[in-house]
Amino acid sequence: MKYLRKITLAQLPTPLHELPAFAGKLGYTGNIYMKRDDLSGLAAGGNKSRKLEYIMADVLRQDADTVITCGGLQSNHCLQTAAAAKKLGLDCHLVLSGEKPGNINGNLFLDMLTGVRIDFVPRPEREYRMEALADVLRKEGKKPYIIPVGGSNALGAVGYVMAMSEILRQFELMRIDCDRIVIAASSGGTLAGLVLGAAIGGYKGKITGISIDRRSQGRDAFPPKLAELANRCAELLEVEIRLKAEDFELEYGYLGAGYGVVGENERHAVRMLAESEGLFVGPVYTGRALGALIDCIKKGKWRKETICFWHTGDMAALFDYSAELL
Ligand SMILES: Cc1ncc(COP(=O)(O)O)c(C=O)c1O
Repeated sequence: MKYLRKITLAQLPTPLHELPAFAGKLGYTGNIYMKRDDLSGLAAGGNKSRKLEYIMADVLRQDADTVITCGGLQSNHCLQTAAAAKKLGLDCHLVLSGEKPGNINGNLFLDMLTGVRIDFVPRPEREYRMEALADVLRKEGKKPYIIPVGGSNALGAVGYVMAMSEILRQFELMRIDCDRIVIAASSGGTLAGLVLGAAIGGYKGKITGISIDRRSQGRDAFPPKLAELANRCAELLEVEIRLKAEDFELEYGYLGAGYGVVGENERHAVRMLAESEGLFVGPVYTGRALGALIDCIKKGKWRKETICFWHTGDMAALFDYSAELL
């Protein structure tokens, strides 16, 4: 395997520990662990730190001076990108979908504190606005670099190939025989990297992606996209392994009323973890994924297994959802 150049943005390895009080509250007889990428150490933490270590190395290699990226109003990816840019002395432009809210809160508030430029646009116009901004900057003699939504390109996924080797080492040192890793999946780079990393590292357990907003079928069906992304990542790393859509296990039953809409699933998960362990998952991604884990255990779908829930961040967004969560 080829090792790609990265820059250090995250504090790695992130902790891995058990959640005994949470498992007890659930009445679960197996063990539940949590991998703490929410403690990645960049801005409010989260999975984008690992992706950005590789993406930002490419930004610097290309001598770019400005990064442009996009996401929702409470995007964790956008905040992490803004923080990474500031740390590296780069300019940063965020294109956020929606109107500027009257009440600035959560990740958006933190974005603003970093002093980056923020454009608010309707969601379908995000890509176009990023290209238009890049054109203007080029005309001004600057060197812009567009990072795709969620940092989910082949380079970003490399961060999670490496994360898999990190957790396999932790499993070994802590003598954890993990049957299943559970993780939130949306733009796909995290899951694609993990599943590829599992194939490279010989992990024998399952990896279950909880779809936050993607569907299994139709024109934008998620599994073929994940396989394509993982295979582009494999090419970058010069490994022979190729994955197929069937290699990805996903749960699609937790889409609720849509992206960013907090329902009973998320509310219950956020509160149950806080009440049992004094820990927090976010309203959009990790709360939804943890809610799925609770549901699969309650329904007896997963029994006695050793499960590791991969916390990918999103806690700062909680502050924008206090009305829905209390
Ligand atoms: C906190 C959090 N968890 C999980 C994800 C999903 O990761 P990916 O987009 O790589 O599928 C995201 C991405 O937006 C996120 O912000």
